[in-house]
Amino acid sequence: MEFLVYRSRARVSRHSQPFHDIVARSQADNPPLGITGFLHAEAGCFLQYIEGPAGSLRALYVRIRRDPRHTGPEVLCHGGLEARRFDGWAMGWCSSEVMSYRAFAAAIPRGGEASEGRLAIAFLMAAGQRIDLGLLAAPEFG
Ligand SMILES: Cc1cc2nc3c(=O)[nH]c(=O)nc-3n(C[C@H](O)[C@H](O)[C@H](O)COP(=O)(O)O)c2cc1C
Repeated sequence: MEFLVYRSRARVSRHSQPFHDIVARSQADNPPLGITGFLHAEAGCFLQYIEGPAGSLRALYVRIRRDPRHTGPEVLCHGGLEARRFDGWAMGWCSSEVMSYRAFAAAIPRGGEASEGRLAIAFLMAAGQRIDLGLLAAPEFG
């Protein structure tokens, strides 16, 4: 099992039908692929965490990368997983109106190179009200 966090520049508004189409499509298509995760929209960006079997995850990211509803996807963090962080979440979502990543990140001191990805995950978890204390307490965190 693997996970991946990327950031991209949104070409559709958080309040638009295309955004809701992305979430609906994800929630319908992810369960049979064993994919779970979380999508956050803020400041014209998408931040998405996806996890699942390596083959499904990589194939999904190939599809996501070429999706015209966003541009410039950039992987922030990826790696292996023993247990899901978003078990039961076909695709949760959040936006800055609910919780701001900037505000969250500003409240936490930055650590090493991996900190941005870790912050993203921590943020996504906090946004989903599933705070992983093990992650927040990781040594790289500062
Ligand atoms: C920000 C963003 C996140 C997406 N997340 C998912 C996802 O988690 N699962 C999914 O099946 N499609 C997701 N999509 C849609 C895919 O890019 C793609 O449209 C969908 O998998 C259908 O692919 P196909 O048109 O090649 O069949 C996402 C698209 C965007 C723009």
